[in-house]
Amino acid sequence: MAPVVVVRGAPHCNDPLTRFGLSAARCPGTLGAMPTISVIALKGGVGKTSVVLGLASAATVRGLATLVVDLDPQGNATSLLSTHARKTTVADVLAHPTKETVEAALTACDWELAPGEVDVLPSHPNIIRFDSWSGGTLRPKLARALSHLTGYDLTLIDCPPSLGALTREALAASDFAIVVTTPTFFGSQGVERAVAEVEEIRKSVNPNLKLAGIVVNRVRSTAEEHEYRKQELTDIYGRVTLMKPVIPERIAVQQAEGTGMPVHRIRTAGGREVADIFDGYLKTLMRKS
Ligand SMILES: Nc1ncnc2c1ncn2[C@@H]1O[C@H](COP(=O)(O)OP(=O)(O)OP(=O)(O)O)[C@@H](O)[C@H]1O
Ligand SMILES: [Mg+2]
Repeated sequence: MAPVVVVRGAPHCNDPLTRFGLSAARCPGTLGAMPTISVIALKGGVGKTSVVLGLASAATVRGLATLVVDLDPQGNATSLLSTHARKTTVADVLAHPTKETVEAALTACDWELAPGEVDVLPSHPNIIRFDSWSGGTLRPKLARALSHLTGYDLTLIDCPPSLGALTREALAASDFAIVVTTPTFFGSQGVERAVAEVEEIRKSVNPNLKLAGIVVNRVRSTAEEHEYRKQELTDIYGRVTLMKPVIPERIAVQQAEGTGMPVHRIRTAGGREVADIFDGYLKTLMRKS
């Protein structure tokens, strides 16, 4: 039997789409063209998914219709955003990038955070088979699939911790890339390769792609090493490229994850601090687009 997609009430426009397979968020965008942003890093566990969810949370508070594409076979964003049963996933979308498939994969998010809405293109462990890279010319499938969708104000793509074919698919479909890192030696090394990858995709398949910025996450203000690495990244990439302010290490990020709530719902000082930072990032990204 086909899964039932539950559409919550009060989407940001007065057009509740309750037809199976269509989501609440897919009503006309409120701001005209809004960007598609890939959140990438070579290294695992630096906060890619947390940044995607933080930006989606900020966008929802602003009343935007947001699509989160989960291109990570681990499916962390998918399991945090939606518990709905899923028959069609991003694996089907990559196999058949048609309008019908991408619409069938759209899943409403569980967050109850008016006035905006979030939809998810859910991941599936099988997408790992799309991650092998033969070195040939990329024939972007995700970009083709997303081109069939209208009405979203913002699309965020959560990427796996690698610069393989899935991340390339994401970059080929994006207007902007955000590189996430922690202020560590290995983190800094990973940034260099991720920035080079963005440049490579810009030159080869997607001339529209721009680096929106580098997010430095999990910064402890008392750690000298963190201050050193932050300075090092500023020296290499310039003040403009580092998104400001950096994101501090705050338990609120893990509380949001643990409770399945958007970070804007975590009513602690740390929650408000992190939520404010994502509001600021969203503003910056909107200015750039
Ligand atoms: N600023 C922060 N303060 C405290 N904890 C954080 C912060 N950012 C992320 N975390 C926690 O660190 C862990 C890893 O974060 P996250 O899953 O976002 O990283 P990731 O880069 O997406 O990982 P992966 O590469 O496995 O997909 C999570 O448990 C998350 O809650
Ligand atoms: Mg992740």
